[in-house]
Amino acid sequence: MNIENQKQFIEKVNNINAGKNLKYTIFTMGCQLNENDSEKLCGMLEEMNYTKTDNISESDFIIFNTCCVRENAEDKLFGKLGEVKKIKEQKGTIIAICGCMMQEKHIVEKIKKSYPFVDILFGTHTMHKLPEDLYTVICNKTKIQDILDIDGEIIEGLPIKRNDNIKASVTIMNGCNNFCSYCIVPYVRGRERSRNPEDIINEIENLAKEGYKEITLLGQNVNSYKGNGNLGITKFSELLRAVNKIEGIERIRFISPHPKDFSDDVIEAIRDCEKVCKIIHLPLQSGNTEILKKMNRKYTKEQYLELVDKMKAKIPGLALSTDIIVGFPGETDENFEDTLDVVKKVNFEQVYMFIYSRRVGTPGDKMENQVPEPAKHVRFDKLKALVESQIDENNKKYVGTIQKVLVEGKSKTNENMLTGRTDTNKVVNFEGNENLIGNIINLKIISEHMWYLKGEVI
Ligand code: 5AD
Ligand code: SF4
Repeated sequence: MNIENQKQFIEKVNNINAGKNLKYTIFTMGCQLNENDSEKLCGMLEEMNYTKTDNISESDFIIFNTCCVRENAEDKLFGKLGEVKKIKEQKGTIIAICGCMMQEKHIVEKIKKSYPFVDILFGTHTMHKLPEDLYTVICNKTKIQDILDIDGEIIEGLPIKRNDNIKASVTIMNGCNNFCSYCIVPYVRGRERSRNPEDIINEIENLAKEGYKEITLLGQNVNSYKGNGNLGITKFSELLRAVNKIEGIERIRFISPHPKDFSDDVIEAIRDCEKVCKIIHLPLQSGNTEILKKMNRKYTKEQYLELVDKMKAKIPGLALSTDIIVGFPGETDENFEDTLDVVKKVNFEQVYMFIYSRRVGTPGDKMENQVPEPAKHVRFDKLKALVESQIDENNKKYVGTIQKVLVEGKSKTNENMLTGRTDTNKVVNFEGNENLIGNIINLKIISEHMWYLKGEVI
């Protein structure tokens, strides 16, 4: 897709805004894919002569990049829109909403009816058109709705302003074909579309040249990545091996794979590639075979456990993290026990826990036997207690060990401390010289706390 057209609009808005010292605020909800999209939105905005501020009351442009995976994001957006209305009244601020929620018709209708002051609505397939939409709004003083139902093409070459200068995310594919019955993503992000291998490798090589050390490859279902064969890359394992060869990059992570597609070649690539971190995110969702079937996950409890065993046997020292949903329709206390059982057996390094949230348009929303809210919360608390006790136990195992830590910067809570992460993604805080930032160093772990470890330079 040619973005030259948008570059011309960037230029036009840039000229209109010149010398005005305009500011923007961006609110990003949801996953790392959305964060990565926001980095591109920021890249376009900065080229249009806006500078970022966290103070919304001084903003000339406010943009919400939304998520619709769970209901709480909607509540957050509608709450914030009330606040923003007052700023617009005082300052004439331009307000835009984009991202996943904009692909849901009932949400767009609600915004148009209850929040008519919003200037620009655009979706996941028209993100790159922000410059054109903004130009139209500025020049014509109109409102714009730019949302497409068809899958957008992969857009290359957008400007990007990254949040970090050590770790970077690189989207390798958009969309999802799996239609898990609780999930809205396939409806709002469309079908799977993989980026060309040469574009991915080129982006990462440039990041390496800029001094980035850690790359996270992003996609809704990374292990069904399909390359066009350029650079000899047709599948995810080949992509991992190619990224592993890029000089300067020291760590590679990826999210999220689907257990049903976790083939042996991917396991072997993780084993062989020394830069690929030996912690794998393997979304479980439920430990009960009946519920997994209703979720359309295409694996059983036993198959998941067998996969974990195989991975642990092939990759020495492998750690795992996961996503779990509690309270999917029809889940009984007995079914939920299976989830607890898998958690006990696998001993995850980290578990992201979610309470099932009904999403309009998904099969799960239409299922009978929705679990009452109080029961969901009881299960959530039970799972949380188990997970925290496991994390506590696991943290103890770190004390006294030497860990390779990528130093990310100063600790946010203590100016005198530095902070970094182990290969297994544990936060380690320690005292050290600022010139260590950006390096992987050996630290001895001296104590453990629930959400971080304390280390010392050796
Ligand atoms: N309710 C609760 N959690 C959900 N997730 C996806 N859809 C829903 C939903 N409707 C969770 C899944 C997924 C993660 C990104 O969000 O666990 O892996
Ligand atoms: Fe949603 Fe399932 Fe696709 Fe993940 S794999 S985005 S949970 S439909």
